[in-house]
Amino acid sequence: MPPSDPSSSSAAPPARTSNPRIEGAAKVTGAALYVDDIGDDRFGSSLDTAVVVTSTIAIGRIRSFDLSGARAVPGVRLVMTHQNAPRLRKLTAVAMSEIGELLPLQGDRISYYGQAIAVVVADTMLAASEAARLVLVDYEPAAHAPAVTLADGADRLAPVKRAGMAAGETKKGDAFADYEAAPVKVDARYHCAPHHHNAMETSAVIARWDDDGGVTIRAAVQWHHLETLAVGQAFGLDLADRLPGYLARAALGREFAGKVRLTNMMAGGAFGRNLNPQHLLLACMAAKLNDRGVKLNLSREQTFTLLSYRAEVDQRLRLGADADGRLVTIIQEPDVAVGFAGSYVEPVGHSPLQVYAHVSHYLRHRVARLDLNAPGWMRAPGGSAALFALESAMDELAGKVGLDPLELRLRNHADVDPQSGKPWTRKSLHACYRAGAAAIRWHDRPKGGTPRADGRLIGYGMATSYESSLRFPASASVTLRQDGTVLVRVTAAETGQGIWTALVTITAESLGLPRSQIELVTDQTMLPAGAGSIASTGTFSNGTAIVEAAQMIKAKLFRQVMRDHASPLHRAHPGAMAIVDGQVRGPGNLAESVVSAMKRAREPITARATTGRNFGRDTKRKKASFGAVFTEISIDPWTMDLAAERMFGAFACGRIIEPAIARSQLLGGMTWGIGQALFEQSHLDRRTGRWINANLAEALIPTHADIRSIEAIMVEDDETWTHSLGMKGVSEIGVIGPAPAIANAIFDATGNRLRSLPLLIEQRFGG
Ligand code: MOS
Repeated sequence: MPPSDPSSSSAAPPARTSNPRIEGAAKVTGAALYVDDIGDDRFGSSLDTAVVVTSTIAIGRIRSFDLSGARAVPGVRLVMTHQNAPRLRKLTAVAMSEIGELLPLQGDRISYYGQAIAVVVADTMLAASEAARLVLVDYEPAAHAPAVTLADGADRLAPVKRAGMAAGETKKGDAFADYEAAPVKVDARYHCAPHHHNAMETSAVIARWDDDGGVTIRAAVQWHHLETLAVGQAFGLDLADRLPGYLARAALGREFAGKVRLTNMMAGGAFGRNLNPQHLLLACMAAKLNDRGVKLNLSREQTFTLLSYRAEVDQRLRLGADADGRLVTIIQEPDVAVGFAGSYVEPVGHSPLQVYAHVSHYLRHRVARLDLNAPGWMRAPGGSAALFALESAMDELAGKVGLDPLELRLRNHADVDPQSGKPWTRKSLHACYRAGAAAIRWHDRPKGGTPRADGRLIGYGMATSYESSLRFPASASVTLRQDGTVLVRVTAAETGQGIWTALVTITAESLGLPRSQIELVTDQTMLPAGAGSIASTGTFSNGTAIVEAAQMIKAKLFRQVMRDHASPLHRAHPGAMAIVDGQVRGPGNLAESVVSAMKRAREPITARATTGRNFGRDTKRKKASFGAVFTEISIDPWTMDLAAERMFGAFACGRIIEPAIARSQLLGGMTWGIGQALFEQSHLDRRTGRWINANLAEALIPTHADIRSIEAIMVEDDETWTHSLGMKGVSEIGVIGPAPAIANAIFDATGNRLRSLPLLIEQRFGG
């Protein structure tokens, strides 16, 4: 059992102890249930197995199928192709969701290699897999080769209106004139290779249609009610399952049953790819044709084409500065790859204009629609590409003006948000710079390229991290029961980030009750519509709804004890009461435990709150998380083998709810950043349009051998401008900073400026 938390409801938060993850023991002992662990018994009715068949050409059409071999396999129940698949309705575009444009099996057209073209349902996995292999397709391939890289699709580049929440084009002042006039200039191109999330779980969905026309689903999704909305819309279910139902749930906080009954399961990683999984629809479609439920499990290779990934980005970045290194202008021109359909554009413009003070800027995205599956949200969307370029260019600028890279950043510190001119809600970037620099002893570092005793060259690099902080609409309901226990109901997706544990901590703290008395239920569509686990906002968005419901509970409880003749607090003023360590305390030394007060209550106390309707926007201030990453690398001058010897990331991310979990998120993020720097790349066969390294053996990520020592420093940063909970987000900012810090350290060690991610060994030789 987790130790109970020393709670305090009113005073400033004390230095926190960390609580073990609620689901931790279950996960490490193998007891935790993922979708694929659900069989007939646990599901309550028999399930068939569904296997997807994917295209082996990139562009063209399907002339015909020969399904005789597949159908002849014993145990095969059906083969679904575009010829017999349920027709899906067009989906209203909903923020974050791309699925509306990617409806599977709706026609004979092939738009990318690995597109779903059939689903085989059989009574065993073996039969389904064997039959899937025997689905024969007569293709009519397009006459021309697919274009799958920005280089191949250069003639398709076109302007775009929006890239995520950023405008496609943004300008302030006359950036080009300022650039021409600037005495110091940096002008460089930076390239980021596409790569995939590669969560451990390959991702399964269970679906069964019920007698009342509803559908029962087991899946692991990041935003519960957006996924049920997608299913409700696609299959034309009742209003309760379509947009009016979603809005009533999300914006008005209503609770009602719908016909899409999703149990959201724990995920073996998500990172953005569980936002609009196509196979959720495929499983529902196959189940519709089958007379019982199906379980559809993707292969690792299929996750590369049926789930999303981070798109290729190629950008030109120009910085114009005065002779002292003060930025005058920033011109950033990213070209972004997008797939055959879908509106997601890697939002490179989300952050770079907010990082440093400057006078003028110009930022525009162009997109090339390629013969590929659609990219999507992936941990640190936009920012990881944007700041790789910006922070590399700042390092180049530091060299040109002869300033220490940290001094250059300090000189360009943005005291207000340069884009909007608004002050920050709270900015502790100076403290991050100080903490990171002190940890790595930045000011005492050896000269770049100094050989160590073993001959390896030492290099130091640093970069700023930045991630703007949002909040999404969330409803939660909290019930204080007569036995003094608390039930919290909110759809919150545990994707591995620790949100369950953090939400219990927030509840315990808000109510002044021990964690052991709190029960959290998050997985049912019946629950109030919580916010999704996206964009580093899940704990904050859902947490604020819980805090506000808890405040209502306390107000009700205090009035109740005031009126209660049997309570020692009878007639005490509710405004003078607080709950501390499970005790309602009033003026003087009057106190009664919550458990004892609730024993006499006629009924449980329930409250529901909806927060974040304005998406955390504030007309007066801009809110963001800040950080600074410092690294020391060593590099072998003969083999160019590189190790991240030490990396410190110092982050100011608002109030930290669970220190161990937050640290784990930041370290995980930094490890992604190191992966982005050194390894992560999904290779495409330009002849066929196929993702080549679609397996965990060849999709390289960093291991312990690549990172000798890594630490996240959490800079105290209590952020209460937008909400008393005081939070920002910790999940994604860790990714932003490590890649440019390593690129800058490679330059420091070798004099080679590498501008193409990943910074492969062959690049490090320079030349
Ligand atoms: Mo995150 S890319 O919003 O899962």
